[in-house]
Amino acid sequence: MAETILITGGAGFVGRHVAKSLLEDGHRVRAFDSLIEQVHPARARPVELDPEVELVVGDIRDGDALGRALTGVDAVIHLAAEVGVGQSMYAVDRYTSVNDLGTAVLFQKLIDKPARRVVVASSMSVYGEGLYRTADGVLMEDVVRGPRNPDGSWDPLDGEGRAMTPVPTPETKRPALKSVYAINKFVQERLTLTLTAQYGMEGAALRLWNIYGPGQALSNPYTGVLAIFASRIMHGQAPMVFEDGRQRRDFVHVSDVVSAFRLALERPEAVGETFNIGSGEDRSVEDVARLQAASMGRGDIEPNITKQARAGDIRHNIPDLTKARTLLGYEPKQDFTRGLEELAAWVARQESKDRVAEARRELELRGLVA
Ligand code: UD1
Repeated sequence: MAETILITGGAGFVGRHVAKSLLEDGHRVRAFDSLIEQVHPARARPVELDPEVELVVGDIRDGDALGRALTGVDAVIHLAAEVGVGQSMYAVDRYTSVNDLGTAVLFQKLIDKPARRVVVASSMSVYGEGLYRTADGVLMEDVVRGPRNPDGSWDPLDGEGRAMTPVPTPETKRPALKSVYAINKFVQERLTLTLTAQYGMEGAALRLWNIYGPGQALSNPYTGVLAIFASRIMHGQAPMVFEDGRQRRDFVHVSDVVSAFRLALERPEAVGETFNIGSGEDRSVEDVARLQAASMGRGDIEPNITKQARAGDIRHNIPDLTKARTLLGYEPKQDFTRGLEELAAWVARQESKDRVAEARRELELRGLVA
């Protein structure tokens, strides 16, 4: 049945892709977005936003504007958020205001105008370090990354000083909130699941891993690492890789994330649940930098391994997708190499300012890279 769906942050990278998919299935889509300058330098409706999407420009903390945008809405996908882990460590008030107060205002309005379902974008950041296994095969849940190890390595060590191996992290792992952004995302998740249940709505939260794909904000220096690297490589600059580059992540293509949101919106099994969403394949940041340079025809550009850590960063985190697969019916499909090629082709058609050096200076000024 066709529904009217409100996507907060709907003019952004993920929102535009979700909107397109919903429109293709005959739904009506309204996007609520403040078009912040960091993401939308022109502060105008993005050309990539499907013309069929009704765009309401407003701040997520503006209850009156949000209340109007909720009129006639059946379901909400809540994406509006500040998303830079590093930036969250110094823009504390802005992040907490937009992410947490913004979600509170959304629910304050939903109490009066309830929707059938609300799906919130959470993050793997809520886990802090992922799950690890010691050399003796013991699973370690509450790993805390210390400063760099005395021998110069970065992997968390067990009690006997041996490096531990990252293993897929299930939703049952206790959260460990290591950045303001992680704190914000956990609050968003809890507000959504608590208040939907309280007020007769259905709620679900997706803990997303690192999303990439065409349409990423290339000029935003605080965006995901693949967009940052793409922008650097496009300008003939070496990607700046923090630590030793061996930190592992799961890079999930935006089309797979779209399918996860669709399932979370539709499946009865999603209600009241949180799900890990990734690609099921983990990679080191250095490998990704090399693959990406090659995909952009610049295999000659060597990554610059900075041996410096960014404040708030976790070392390794890779998802266990069992719950998403079995309960949600989620199955990631995008091949990474092909995804990078598609990203490279899209990047080649874009113009972006290389603002990464500027962003790094801001972190350095505040002592947040060491
Ligand atoms: C990212 C998202 C966050 C999302 C999370 C889910 C952004 C800004 N952050 O956080 O919103 O919830 O994924 O998984 O999109 N790195 C470099 N060089 C750089 C930039 C980053 O080496 O120039 C490294 C980082 O130190 C980190 C890795 O790349 O080890 C990933 O960084 P990033 O893309 O910012 O993602 P997360 O911090 O994982």
